[in-house]
Amino acid sequence: MIDNDLACLDAYRERPAAQQPDWPDPAELAAASAALAALPPLVFAGEADRLTGRLAAAQRGEAFVLQGGDCAEIFAEASADRIRNKIRTVLQMAVVLTYGASLPVVKMGRMAGQYAKPRSAATETRGELTLPAYRGDGVNGFEFTAAARRNDPWRMVEAYHHSASTLNLIRAFTMGGFADLRQVQEWNRGFMANPAYARYEQLAAQIDRAVRFMGACGADFEALKMVEFFASHEALLLDYERALTRIDSRGGKPYDCSAHFLWIGERTRSPEGAHAELLSHVRNPLGVKVGPTAHASDILRLADKLDPFQEPGRLTLITRMGADSVRAVLPGLVRAVQAAQRPVLWICDPMHGNTFTTAGGVKTRRFDTIMDEVKGFFEVLREAGAVPGGLHVELTGDDVTEVMGGSEAIDDEALTKRYETLVDPRLNHQQALETAFQVAELLRHP
Ligand code: PEP
Ligand code: CO
Repeated sequence: MIDNDLACLDAYRERPAAQQPDWPDPAELAAASAALAALPPLVFAGEADRLTGRLAAAQRGEAFVLQGGDCAEIFAEASADRIRNKIRTVLQMAVVLTYGASLPVVKMGRMAGQYAKPRSAATETRGELTLPAYRGDGVNGFEFTAAARRNDPWRMVEAYHHSASTLNLIRAFTMGGFADLRQVQEWNRGFMANPAYARYEQLAAQIDRAVRFMGACGADFEALKMVEFFASHEALLLDYERALTRIDSRGGKPYDCSAHFLWIGERTRSPEGAHAELLSHVRNPLGVKVGPTAHASDILRLADKLDPFQEPGRLTLITRMGADSVRAVLPGLVRAVQAAQRPVLWICDPMHGNTFTTAGGVKTRRFDTIMDEVKGFFEVLREAGAVPGGLHVELTGDDVTEVMGGSEAIDDEALTKRYETLVDPRLNHQQALETAFQVAELLRHP
């Protein structure tokens, strides 16, 4: 069995692999892969198992999942301030959602490994010059020069080191008192001080009273100073994920120790493809993005491949339908999964189906459209008697202007003020909190 597991880990090499960089030099790739394989794991198998248990609870409707972070992490932005702001935003959202759901919130960052991106074209042309497309800092540089755009496998090693320092900071922040519930609630009060958010006042006041009530009852705030925070990213770059796949000393099973949770993207989720093959052999909890063109038969084949033993918590379907399609397309998929009695967790990514380019040429999303997809997701899952189990969002802890709308009404003109993303537009700190308040209302008033 164990030998078989090991042999299977390389079976993906025989499968079609979408969205892989064309590494220019095989010897260089081999050297970088060997260097990665010699480095310590970033997460431990036991932690991944614990997350599987948490996701199983979410599947049963006993927890709610919040997964958030950058579309693409950037080496130059893996700084203490940026990381702290992102964690703070996720923790603030989690407090609001915990109250809304009256359930524990499972917190996962799109952090500490989100360094590779799928692209719609392999090359980019500007004027006379055609270069490889930017595929994330883990592959090449964003700058439009031949030197920067060269796919460099040593960047995977650099991505590993940035992930390690990010995780180290995450662990320090979430274990060292920064995550104290009272402190997080204090930050939320700061958000409410802005009159733009008056519509959330009632809910915010209720949360405040609840936290005070707990204090008065003598709740163990010492225990609430620490939170569990898991790391996740898209398992896109097969060379990176394979090199970080390790055999667990406890039971001889392989785990992808680059993160607790890995997902397969919309463009790489072929059931016969290399991504599904590699991930089918690791024991981490897994996600699959499900877009509006997915057929029920694809999803069921993926479920057979990735979760043949129907283990609770193993498989999460991250729907990203677009606000226009969610109510029409999702019901059929949910019904098919229910009919096949597949134990999956459904969570909603309201970002990736709602991207458009403004007349001024800026890639953006509208806050209201994002919220409309979340509402549609809740409607569809509830109507089917299934559990709307979580939210997957692209956010930053900073005051960027990338998504239009929200109470601060970012418009065409405001978009250009602080547009920093290299890939997809992210909710800023305030928009992320607004999202949490609106989702809390959906959770409270089915
Ligand atoms: C992403 O999550 O950044 C992404 C590329 O999503 P999708 O695979 O759903 O398009
Ligand atoms: Co994205």
